[in-house]
Amino acid sequence: MSCADCLHSLRQASDKIDFRGLTRRALLTGLFSLGLPAFDRVANATRKKDPRRSRLTPGDQLVFAFGDRAGQAITPQDISVGERPEFAYPKDSATDTVRSRFRLNQVLLIRLKPEELSEKTRARSLDGLVCYSAVCTHTGCDVSEWIGPTQQLVCPCHASFFDPKNQGRVVGGPAPKPLATLPLEVRDGFLAVKGPFIGKIGFKKKK
Ligand code: FES
Repeated sequence: MSCADCLHSLRQASDKIDFRGLTRRALLTGLFSLGLPAFDRVANATRKKDPRRSRLTPGDQLVFAFGDRAGQAITPQDISVGERPEFAYPKDSATDTVRSRFRLNQVLLIRLKPEELSEKTRARSLDGLVCYSAVCTHTGCDVSEWIGPTQQLVCPCHASFFDPKNQGRVVGGPAPKPLATLPLEVRDGFLAVKGPFIGKIGFKKKK
């Protein structure tokens, strides 16, 4: 076969290739083998860039999470003995960013009579004011209920009971661990995070 014949055969073969089909396949392959992981990476990066999704840090102010005063800084006087626990979020005072898009930042503020607290809890409290993670250690629901007469925090999902007078210990239900305590201090008249959580926050996902 001459060179001219070879070139002619190649041209004929290339004419039979469906380039549009190849492009479509290449696109689909790209999406599934390269495109989707790349998309995930972009989404993760976006998440990391959103300061509202960052973890609380010592020095953050506490602000009301819900209600008419949502976003406002909380003073120790805002929380009284005998009232229902108040949900709060940490706010980065330097940037005024409320870190509300990271669920494990959500905490509960409760004021109890100091003389009714266990020794360790009293030492961590601000004149009876204590702060706990609001995420149940069972499967992560909000610990949203309060039984006034027994002064217990309750997770309504599967009825776990926690004792805020004694380090957030489990006193009933399936929760495996106490609620983590958040140490507080007063800065410029407002409640602020003094240090990291004492104890583990959140729950263990089943494998
Ligand atoms: S998630 Fe709270 S008791 Fe199950």
